[in-house]
Amino acid sequence: MYLKYELTVIIPTFNEEINIARIIEAVNSTLSLHKIRGEILIVDDESRDKTIKIVEELMLKYNNLRIIVRHTDHGLSQSVVEGFRQANSNTFLVIDADFSHPPALIPRFYEEIKKGTDIVIGSRYTHGGGIKQWPLKRRILSLGATGLGRILFPEVTDPVSGFFAQKKKVISGAQLHPRGYKILMEVLGKGKWNSFIEIPFTFSDRQNGESKLTFCIITDYIKQILNIAKYSLAFRNNHAWTEWEKIGKFCLVGLSGVLVNVGSLYLFTEYIGLYYIISSLVAIEISILSNFLLNDYWTFKLKDKADKYTQNRFKRFFSFQGISIVGLIINIGILYFLTNFFGIYYLVSNLIGIVIVFFWNYLMNTQVTWKL
Ligand code: GDD
Repeated sequence: MYLKYELTVIIPTFNEEINIARIIEAVNSTLSLHKIRGEILIVDDESRDKTIKIVEELMLKYNNLRIIVRHTDHGLSQSVVEGFRQANSNTFLVIDADFSHPPALIPRFYEEIKKGTDIVIGSRYTHGGGIKQWPLKRRILSLGATGLGRILFPEVTDPVSGFFAQKKKVISGAQLHPRGYKILMEVLGKGKWNSFIEIPFTFSDRQNGESKLTFCIITDYIKQILNIAKYSLAFRNNHAWTEWEKIGKFCLVGLSGVLVNVGSLYLFTEYIGLYYIISSLVAIEISILSNFLLNDYWTFKLKDKADKYTQNRFKRFFSFQGISIVGLIINIGILYFLTNFFGIYYLVSNLIGIVIVFFWNYLMNTQVTWKL
């Protein structure tokens, strides 16, 4: 079927009268400069300022410009999904109206899609990316949100980015349940995709107007993560499920390591007669080895093993060993810090330490050890 446009640039807006004309002009000139047949779709949630009027006036000048004004269920993610539904092309790109995302990168995103990548993500956290002018509180919130998102998608450095492009087929038929700000998480969690790529960019905080991020959006995000988790349990053949499966196996292996550790400690102290501190060191090493082997042969087992995979088993073991030792140090540090400085009961501090170190071990091992 012939489609008039090859790309739809979706811009969600709420009270953007200061930015809207400039962003439309910037996007349009980038599209024409690179000869991309693109449409611009503004999805507005009944802005109370002049945003809608300005767009309607600009529509007389640009025939590739449209506006959808939504009257119910307001929200950034909901608007983006409405944009997906109403787009007149097979490729969508989402960008903020306030110049937090550089429109000059649009052609690079589109190039990647044309080369066959399913999802292209503008990342602040990949090498070369960054953030300008964010207050400390916002940075901490963003790191928290990104960290939570990376539990489900460890490969993606910025799973909560609001700047991304995707093929239409990624979300056709997907049961999207958009809420809050993190629409990309929804696409990654429920869409059908095989490949993604990240393009670094520097997020510049808006110069005009203000962010609409509120506390409710943070609680919405947590609900959204739970919803994606529930969804991945029901439809086991998606990326989030694959990750949950690995996390579950990694957790079971960790638990088996505790048994191996306690058993070895008992055996070496009681039957071999070693001093208990020496037995403990031997027991730690044995449990690291058993955890490594179980993870290598089970949790992260490759279906099609390349020769390199077998050859690199030693390298992976040393990496796993190093990460586990750093994990142990972090655990003891957290235990000491929370108990001594915050007066938290030591068993509770230890439990917090274990949870944090679990994620440390998991993320580091998926990113480093089982990449070798
Ligand atoms: N239609 C609609 N409805 N648009 C909205 C709404 C809404 O309820 N709330 C915000 N927008 C529009 C804004 O007008 C702007 O174009 C864009 O969405 C981003 O809004 P901001 O409020 O400025 O977002 P932010 O800077 O706090 O957050 C950005 O960065 C996050 C990453 O930290 C966004 O890009 C988020 O999507 C992203 O997750």
